[in-house]
Amino acid sequence: MSTKEAYSTETRPAPPASDTPPRLATSIRNLKKEYVLKSETVRALRGVSFDVPEGDYVAIMGPSGSGKSTLLNMLGCLDQPTSGSLLMGDDDIITLTDDQLADIRSKRIGFVFQSYNLIQQLSVVENIQVPLYYQGRLGAAELERAKAMAERVGLAERLDHRPSQLSGGQQQRVAIARSLINDPFFILADEPTGNLDSVTTEEILGIFDELNNEGRTIILVTHEDDVAERAKRIIRLKDGMLDRDELISEEKRAAARAAQHENVVQLLARQS
Ligand SMILES: Nc1ncnc2c1ncn2[C@@H]1O[C@H](COP(=O)(O)OP(=O)(O)OP(=O)(O)O)[C@@H](O)[C@H]1O
Ligand SMILES: [Mg+2]
Repeated sequence: MSTKEAYSTETRPAPPASDTPPRLATSIRNLKKEYVLKSETVRALRGVSFDVPEGDYVAIMGPSGSGKSTLLNMLGCLDQPTSGSLLMGDDDIITLTDDQLADIRSKRIGFVFQSYNLIQQLSVVENIQVPLYYQGRLGAAELERAKAMAERVGLAERLDHRPSQLSGGQQQRVAIARSLINDPFFILADEPTGNLDSVTTEEILGIFDELNNEGRTIILVTHEDDVAERAKRIIRLKDGMLDRDELISEEKRAAARAAQHENVVQLLARQS
């Protein structure tokens, strides 16, 4: 990807309006999670409801202890709610066994973590195929798909590199390519730019913009206002409840993109 493309602030035209309601990537109703400890019961989520239509781009925010990680664990099928419902495709995760949760997790959720979570002994193209490996699917078609995903995130020239031979931003691109390999219900990103400088943050958020413009659903947890304002919507949690669910106007999103773009241009100018 060229620098110009990586830092592009343009958006593509919105898809044509349609009368049929969009399909849902997930739907959450009255979701509760309690952790029962010896001395007390912690009510980490106290009845959260919202829908995520396919193609949405949601930032989840909230103070420490508000329940973000707990919600993320449910969305990632890593843990089950105490009550309520959370739909993944046609399945409500509260009805699933641990094996069924693991199956959905490996087949239909794309994870991107703050610390990339790549396997150091594997090359770029091998890391991208890791979710398929767990399903016993590693043929020629899968290799081609992994290469296409690497190309998609601008890493076509780095297929045989190991993570230690890549920059932080490149490693996060590998993680994004890996998250796409399974055609996920959504990409679940936990502080994806938390370890990156502002130039690289801009690159990664540019890739998320492109993926979302192509119709990918993104759910991202962040503490940063300027990262959240790149999304289409901010869901704020407070004390285990939904505090606010706010749509970000296209103008505000464009302003956030332009401000970060300008910031990067100035930074690069100072460095040159
Ligand atoms: N495994 C657990 N056992 C008991 N209590 C837990 C557990 N996990 C989380 N909690 C409690 O649930 C509440 C919500 O925690 P959670 O980790 O979801 O918050 P968070 O919004 O992710 O915070 P942070 O921004 O600090 O990461 C907190 O009071 C926390 O102490
Ligand atoms: Mg957390």
